[in-house]
Amino acid sequence: MNSIEQIRQEVIRHLPHHGEIRRLFHGRGQCFPGLEDVIIDAYSPLLMIYLFQPREQEWLFRLVQQLQQCCDVPFEAVVVQRRYLPQTPIELFAASVPPPIEAVEAGLRYQLRLTRTQNIGFFPDMAVGRQLVRQRCAGKKILNLFAYSCSFSVAALAGGAKQVVNLDMSRSALELGRINHQLNKLDLRSVSFLAMELFRSQSKLRKLGPFDMVICDPPASQGKSFNAQHHWPKLLQRLPQWLAPGGELLLCVNGPHLPDNFMAELISVYLPDARELGRYSPGDDFPEKDPRCATTIHHLQLP
Ligand SMILES: C[S@@+](CC[C@H](N)C(=O)[O-])C[C@H]1O[C@@H](n2cnc3c(N)ncnc32)[C@H](O)[C@@H]1O
Repeated sequence: MNSIEQIRQEVIRHLPHHGEIRRLFHGRGQCFPGLEDVIIDAYSPLLMIYLFQPREQEWLFRLVQQLQQCCDVPFEAVVVQRRYLPQTPIELFAASVPPPIEAVEAGLRYQLRLTRTQNIGFFPDMAVGRQLVRQRCAGKKILNLFAYSCSFSVAALAGGAKQVVNLDMSRSALELGRINHQLNKLDLRSVSFLAMELFRSQSKLRKLGPFDMVICDPPASQGKSFNAQHHWPKLLQRLPQWLAPGGELLLCVNGPHLPDNFMAELISVYLPDARELGRYSPGDDFPEKDPRCATTIHHLQLP
């Protein structure tokens, strides 16, 4: 079977429902030999293709043609991001982009930012986490660390959270976060946006707390700002001072190349009294050959 047919067969098992965002093909999980460099997401009416290695234009044309045929409603625009090139340029591959493009997930809307940065404003693999937060946060006060474009905050407020504090060192990501709340007609009086470096915000967060739930969704690694081996232990040590008694934690471990049981061991050292309420992975749309490389969400409750 050729590579395009292999992708087509996978895509038809993951077609989007009602214009909602969906990962159509997840080659990065190493389950499709020879296609580890390809990721495809549907942000209907936009098709987004990420390439982590060069591919011939002819191959791309044939791929897009096949994908257009297997979807009921054809995509109006196709965007390719070449992640192997410096600045990870984004290229309009067909048609014209009808701005603004949004991700729709569980009925909530998130603005995409297609031009400026490597990340386009939304992480589809965190859907399970957003769903969990939405289900459990009614009436609660939430701290959303590494908030980025505040998708957890949007989900929390949609689920009835009383108040959300979003913290991220990127001011522009938080600006997008504000737009995401407005898009969903959420009350901005219940939200705050702190453009701060987390490890220098300890006392500020203590004053704003205590919180009923703290969400931590850091990058796999980001220069000096976040290194899993160094910063996760620091973070776990600090979390209890921000939590109310019986408070919940959502720890999202994004990162290949971490030792086996990395987070389980840190929890036993730094949060020995925590009770595990659940452990989640992103689900069938994100197949991973080696489960140790998958994003994992640890859901805990403190006494
Ligand atoms: C993986 S993204 C978070 C995704 C986000 N939780 C969501 O729901 O879409 C990681 C974010 O962490 C932020 N970040 C990384 N290191 C940080 C630090 N030391 N202090 C504050 N923010 C940090 C980055 O600016 C980036 O926006």
